[in-house]
Amino acid sequence: MTALVVGGGGREHALVWKLAQSPRVDRILCAPGNAGTAALAENVPVKTTDLDGIVDLARREKVGLVVVGPDDPLAAGLVDRLQAAGIRAFGPSASAARFEASKSFAKDFMRRHGIPTAAAEKFTDFESARAYARGQNYPLVIKADGLALGKGVTIAEDFPAAERALSEALVEKIFGDAGNTVVIEEFLSGRECSVHALVDGHSWLMFPDARDHKRALDGDRGPNTGGMGTLSPSGRVDDALRARIEKEILAPFVRGLKEDGIDFRGMLFPGLMLTADGPKVLEFNARFGDPETQVLLPRLKSDLVDLLEATIDARLDSVRAEWDPRAACCVVMASGGYPGGYKTGVSVDGLDSCGALVFHAGTRREGDRVVTSGGRVLGVAALGHTAADAIQSAYGAVRRIRFDNAAWRTDIGSPDPA
Ligand code: AMP
Ligand code: GLY
Repeated sequence: MTALVVGGGGREHALVWKLAQSPRVDRILCAPGNAGTAALAENVPVKTTDLDGIVDLARREKVGLVVVGPDDPLAAGLVDRLQAAGIRAFGPSASAARFEASKSFAKDFMRRHGIPTAAAEKFTDFESARAYARGQNYPLVIKADGLALGKGVTIAEDFPAAERALSEALVEKIFGDAGNTVVIEEFLSGRECSVHALVDGHSWLMFPDARDHKRALDGDRGPNTGGMGTLSPSGRVDDALRARIEKEILAPFVRGLKEDGIDFRGMLFPGLMLTADGPKVLEFNARFGDPETQVLLPRLKSDLVDLLEATIDARLDSVRAEWDPRAACCVVMASGGYPGGYKTGVSVDGLDSCGALVFHAGTRREGDRVVTSGGRVLGVAALGHTAADAIQSAYGAVRRIRFDNAAWRTDIGSPDPA
């Protein structure tokens, strides 16, 4: 069949790379893709938010399976549109994508179904939000309700900081409509971990756990980014905790879907805080994580097409996934300056001989050169018998890749302090 991957980042390169290994896939399209996907797929210059363009492309090329990477086309209803056109597509409907697209929707659902999460209240009016924030303990967490490019969360250290964040969202509207509602929630302390589970409305299939490093600089300092590197397994989740995550989060999630009549078929990616009281949900994402996918798919031995189709057809209970027991580490190489301003069009060298899996993110081809085109440029991933081996191999490859002003964290996957 012909498969179409929607998106152009590292996650999408990893999806294309994994689909290319399927005996059931003989042709792959990627819209819009990057220089990495171009080696395995045909890039088509259609934007991920151009729903008509994607549906036309899928129809014209008789695509047998569309896999949607990013959150915004899901929230805009791309999967609904594809299904209405008779095209098989992986990802939640717009209505089910609200678990990610609306934090207040997700909170209400968790409260209704007893899923552990931070205590929270939602507000649309600045004065009442401010009055509530005044009486809370600090730090306090302020979140824009909608999709805000990963920038909608503020950890306010004191009341003036909370007041500022509330004013930015509710009065100055810096997030546009995504900040018309804010969620104010309790600050949770602990270690974070990323969980991925395919969910088909009846059952779930949990992937190995992973850990993301969201801050730009070593030691978890600097501004938040889309993710500077990942490790799987996270080293933070043993078998007992994994069983607890299934029992306390995934099982009530699926039960809640049935009780509320929500048809969720896709990838559920909860970000968890592992607190002294057990795992609690920080947020739900309704898609594959980036750069989590770059460490999860190299560990997946089974055919991804079978798993995605079983999710679409609601027969996840009939499939199994086989995993490589080795650890995987992915180090993101970024353009110096990211997540602020940075230069693009910079030549990238050493890719072919670096000795690791390189998932492109912000790259494009220029003649026979690869040049940078975004903030996160590459995800350099390696497997190893231990986490330390995987980390060492990934960094060995990073040192062989060269582009001017490249920036990366040197502590991806480093062990937690005792
Ligand atoms: P989110 O976009 O909701 O995942 O939030 C981004 C980051 O903010 C998370 O990865 C956490 O590091 C942090 N965060 C979000 N909610 C909380 C919370 N209730 N307590 C502590 N940290 C939080
Ligand atoms: N790695 C975090 C995300 O994909 O949202």
